[in-house]
Amino acid sequence: MSKREIVIIPGDGIGPEITAAVIKVIEASGAEITWIEHVAGLAALEKGLDVLPDETLEAIKEHKVALKGPCTTPIGEGFTSVNVKLRKTLDLYAAVRPVRNLPGVITRFRNVDIVIIRENTEGLYSGVENIITPGVVMSMKVATEKACTRISHWAFEYARHRQRKKITVLHKANIMKLTDGLFIRKSKEASREYGDIQYEEMIIDAGCMKLVQDPALFDMLLLENLYGDLISDLCAGLVGGLGVVPGANIGDREAVFEAVHGSAPDIAGKGVANPLALLMSGVMMLNHLADTEGREDFRACAVRIKNAYDSALQEGDRTRDLGGKLGTMEFADALIRRI
Ligand code: NAI
Repeated sequence: MSKREIVIIPGDGIGPEITAAVIKVIEASGAEITWIEHVAGLAALEKGLDVLPDETLEAIKEHKVALKGPCTTPIGEGFTSVNVKLRKTLDLYAAVRPVRNLPGVITRFRNVDIVIIRENTEGLYSGVENIITPGVVMSMKVATEKACTRISHWAFEYARHRQRKKITVLHKANIMKLTDGLFIRKSKEASREYGDIQYEEMIIDAGCMKLVQDPALFDMLLLENLYGDLISDLCAGLVGGLGVVPGANIGDREAVFEAVHGSAPDIAGKGVANPLALLMSGVMMLNHLADTEGREDFRACAVRIKNAYDSALQEGDRTRDLGGKLGTMEFADALIRRI
């Protein structure tokens, strides 16, 4: 098989450490990939470039697929989020985050298997804010029929393709009657075309309680942007934390794969970050290329990597966030030995 060019964005904080580890593991799996490195975030600013350089965007458009490390966003000031900008500019409207128990990673719950589908382009997360008068500020929540309809259909198509049983929409339409009201109206309309998949709606505050009481009640969650962001971290906590939850941002043309977690400045540069969430995002990327481009060789690599991390975790080879002793690269090497 020919080599596939894929854009790699190391990102900020722990990004470069975990990306180096992930590239090493993916290469060891035998995947025929040429990595095309581009920068974004603080790393781009440090090079005197825009926070999301045109070259990076153009490279993703050209190669269609990117694996991305986390990018830092300043809190309460400074530039707007690179991640939000990237998702909006490329119209990567569907965020997919599978949250599952892993072998050997003991948590309070044993039976978590939830796929989160987050609308990625609008809602309160857009960061559109105004100063009305001094001392009065406003944040805008935008919902459009177009985006609500397409994410709902996307979620149901995903459910059908993956033989999932049920989609639960978490919302607050009792308070945000127009915006969340539109979201659930369009989800319900879509559900009528997919009679084989169970559909339910739940007010998000009660949904949070049920998630932490009995996550097995849920199969797939469909959420607007901000709720999807928050619920992703909550669900990560059910299965061992942010070090183990991967993600994909998918549009009609391009797809960018990245972990749910951020740049973790508290542990950056120490060589202790867990590269697994980004590696699992890489596995999602390999499977995506198998599905969309017929790269069955990539699917075989994905299986090899998954078998390696399942067995490493089971046998106690883990990073510190999972109660182990290994550093970022030591964990990668433990996987490579198994591959
Ligand atoms: P965070 O996800 O970076 O960290 C939260 C906690 O989880 C920290 O204690 C961190 O040490 C731990 N953690 C995260 N990833 C880990 C890993 N791989 N291994 C071990 N421990 C890990 O969230 P936080 O602190 O809220 O955000 C830090 C920065 O990241 C912010 O600038 C934020 O905007 C950005 N961010 C970027 C994202 C992206 O690029 N997609 C997503 C989320 C946040």
